[in-house]
Amino acid sequence: MGSLSTRHILGIKYLTKEDIHLIMETASYFKEVINRPIKKVPSLRDITIANLFFENSTRTRISFELAEKRLSADVVNFSASASSVSKGETLLDTVQNILSMKVDMVVMRHPLQGAPFFLSKHIDANIINAGDGTHEHPTQALLDLYSMTEKVGDVSGKNIAIIGDIRHSRVALSNIFCLVKMGARVRLCGPPTLIPKNIESLGVEVDYNLKRTLEWADVANILRIQLERQHIRYFPSLREYSLYYGVNKKLLDSLNSEVVIMHPGPMNRGVEISSDVADSQQSIILHQVENGVAVRMAILFLLAPHKS
Ligand code: NCD
Repeated sequence: MGSLSTRHILGIKYLTKEDIHLIMETASYFKEVINRPIKKVPSLRDITIANLFFENSTRTRISFELAEKRLSADVVNFSASASSVSKGETLLDTVQNILSMKVDMVVMRHPLQGAPFFLSKHIDANIINAGDGTHEHPTQALLDLYSMTEKVGDVSGKNIAIIGDIRHSRVALSNIFCLVKMGARVRLCGPPTLIPKNIESLGVEVDYNLKRTLEWADVANILRIQLERQHIRYFPSLREYSLYYGVNKKLLDSLNSEVVIMHPGPMNRGVEISSDVADSQQSIILHQVENGVAVRMAILFLLAPHKS
């Protein structure tokens, strides 16, 4: 098995195409492992991993923890609300204190863009970015790529739509970097206020019309409106958003071909996606969650220090 070109997973923009292929191949192996009756392997025995979550999370935190435990790593969990961060401690002090307890790898989610990058310059452990503000969420993009490939084959030359709050979504940015790198055609769709100006310079197209976008797409990755990151009103109301950009069954049934539906969660049912779409045969949302564990196992395994 080869090795990655990097010691950390800070963002898709720092990965090569070969890194991404290696992660995909390794994830396929671990997907087979976690479908065995005995899901646990000893690969990361004696490796200690700290999951540092300075921002809320359900899926990503559980997914990392399961991935770590299935690789037999020792795991410590930290969440900001229950920590000394609220007593005024700096990020570096918090992390250095944790590392002095002999932690090898850090999985970190943080509300500020660049926080994992900053840490990687100051500490020795391998760092995996589990989402930094509105910047990147690399492991989500990799599990999305894995799930798409499973469904439609090699994404190169395929039409992938990303729909919703592109401006505030780290999933959107990591998906764009990843899909463009792997040769997919990427089209963004959402209200003009939620799509940054000049985003075409990243190699994507923009279409403000949902029906036309879905008609074009092989796969549609639908994103939530990140209300907690919006400090002004970008559109009049959720009801209006849903009317123009909500994906519902009637709309999908009016198309000429079947689109694969994805969503990273958490879903706001009835806003960006209707229940009859989320729960339909076209949706691979729960496969994304399942694949998330295998992809994270692959990443942890490939990054982990080799102890002799
Ligand atoms: C995403 C995130 O946290 O960026 N969720 C996730 O990790 N599955 C998307 C979101 O919050 O909308």
